[in-house]
Amino acid sequence: MRNKIPSAIIILALCFAIGPLVCARAWAYPGGPLHDVTDAAPYCAGCHSSVGIEQLRDLPAEQARKRTAAVAHIDAIKAGSGPYAKLTAQQRARLIADVEEVDANSTISIEVPQSVKAGKTFTATVKAQGGSGPVLGIMLLDIDLRDQARPIQGEGFQIQSPPHVVGPDGKTQAQWLERRYDGLARNLNFVVVFGVKTDLAANKFSTASVTYELAAPARRGRYTICAALVYGTEKASPAGTVEIGGHRAPLGGFAGASGRIRFSKVAAIDVQ
Ligand code: HEC
Repeated sequence: MRNKIPSAIIILALCFAIGPLVCARAWAYPGGPLHDVTDAAPYCAGCHSSVGIEQLRDLPAEQARKRTAAVAHIDAIKAGSGPYAKLTAQQRARLIADVEEVDANSTISIEVPQSVKAGKTFTATVKAQGGSGPVLGIMLLDIDLRDQARPIQGEGFQIQSPPHVVGPDGKTQAQWLERRYDGLARNLNFVVVFGVKTDLAANKFSTASVTYELAAPARRGRYTICAALVYGTEKASPAGTVEIGGHRAPLGGFAGASGRIRFSKVAAIDVQ
C-alpha cells in the first residue's frame, strides 16, 4: 500500500513531463521542425527514410537497406503493417503510387563555381521542388552522407549573410529567418520554405530557391559542397492523409518513415 502512492505520483509526473513534449513534437515534425531555427544537418531527421542507399554507404549493407524509402516506407505500406492495416489492398496500391510520384517529382540541385580564391566571396544557388507540403527543408552541407554530413561552415566556408529564399509564389520569403530570436545572426545553413502545395491530380509541384553568399575557406585545397532536401510524401495523397485535431497529418504517423532525405549532386570546389 505504502509504495502505491509514490509510484502513482511518479507516473502522473511523467505524464505531465512527457505529454506536452510528445504533443509539441507531433506538430513540430510532420509540418517541419518549426522551432529548430538554427544550423542543421540531416542526421536530425532520424524518422525520415533515404531516397537511395548511397547516402548510407558508411553503414553495413543490411542496416542501410532498412533505412531506404523502398524498405522502411513502401514495404511497410505493402505489408499493411501498423497504421496501414486499415487500408484495403487497393488503397495501399494507390498510396504507394502517390508517394512514388511525389518522390519522382522531388528534386534538389546546387550550382557553385568550380574554383574560387581563398577567402573570396561567391554564391551557391540551391533549387528545390516537390514534397507533400506545407513546407520543405533545405540544408547546405559538405557531403551527401545522411548521418555524417556537416553544415557547410564545418569545412571552413562562412555564410556571409542571411540566405535569400524565393518561395513557391516566386516572391522573396523572410518568414523562416524572422523566426530567429531577438538579434541572433540569421546566416543559417538551414531554411524551411513555406507555402508548398502539391496537387498530384493536376501534376503540380511547388518550386523554391535558396541563394547563399559564401566566403571560401582561408586554406587552399579541394572541397566538396552539396544540398539536402527534407520533405514529406504522404500528405500529398488522399489515401495517406488523416486529420488530427484539425491538422492534416500523415497516416503513417509522426514516427513513420514517410519523410525523406534527398541530396543534390556533390560539387567540388578548388580553393586556390
Ligand atoms: C519523430 C520522427 C521525425 C523526426 C525526428 C523528424 N521528422 Fe521530419 N517528418 C516526419 C514525418 C513523418 C514527415 C512526413 C509527413 C508526410 O509524409 O507528409 C516529416 C516531414 C518533414 C518535413 C516536410 C513537412 C511535411 O509535413 O511534409 C520537413 C521539412 C521535415 N520533416 C524536416 C525535419 C528536420 C529538419 C528534422 C530534424 C530536426 C526532422 N524533420 C525530424 C517525422 C520526423
